[in-house]
Amino acid sequence: MSRLKSIVFISGNGSNLQNIIDNIASDYLKMDIVAVISNNANAQGLVRAKASGIETIVIDTKDKYVDKLLVVMDAFEIDLIILSGFMKILPEEFIKKYYGKIINIHPSLLPKFKGLDTHKKVLASKEEYHGASVHFVTSKLDGGPIIVQGKTKILKNDDEDILKSRIHKIEYTIFPLAIKWFIEDHIKQVSDRCYFDNEVLECPIEHL
Ligand code: GRF
Repeated sequence: MSRLKSIVFISGNGSNLQNIIDNIASDYLKMDIVAVISNNANAQGLVRAKASGIETIVIDTKDKYVDKLLVVMDAFEIDLIILSGFMKILPEEFIKKYYGKIINIHPSLLPKFKGLDTHKKVLASKEEYHGASVHFVTSKLDGGPIIVQGKTKILKNDDEDILKSRIHKIEYTIFPLAIKWFIEDHIKQVSDRCYFDNEVLECPIEHL
């Protein structure tokens, strides 16, 4: 069987990208990253990709960019698109074309706290727990079927930075796990639902 080919989309630091690269190097993830795409030419994630010999592509997302993006994508045969801190909303046409092949990591216990500033929002709420979710992507922002979540109790002295760093640690476990399930054909997105080994997931898998 040939190795699965993925593309990773980033906008910033790319610590999750680095973690995926490291998990490929250790052979936990039996796939290849054929390119890293960023909307931000100064993203640290691009430096990380280059250091690992991965092709990098910067796309200008200011105007309608779907046609340009589809041309870029056509150069590759892609099995999986990994949104790893990509801070742009992908065009609907793109999401339709790659339906079932796009996964995203989001720093909250979805469906709570979609969108930006999740650590700030959770601290301003009365929630007892915070966490991260990996989900398949649909045209609803952060609204696609959730695959796996990890959570942490919010502590008295937590601030945004402390939470961010705890959430990142959770992400470094659940993101590779979901990617591994995808590679091994355990998970699938069908009609906006997530299936695990052909059984519909009624609720996300909770990673302890
Ligand atoms: C992560 O917290 C991810 O959940 C969110 O953006 C952040 C990216 O961090 N979508 P990094 O660039 O991987 O360090």
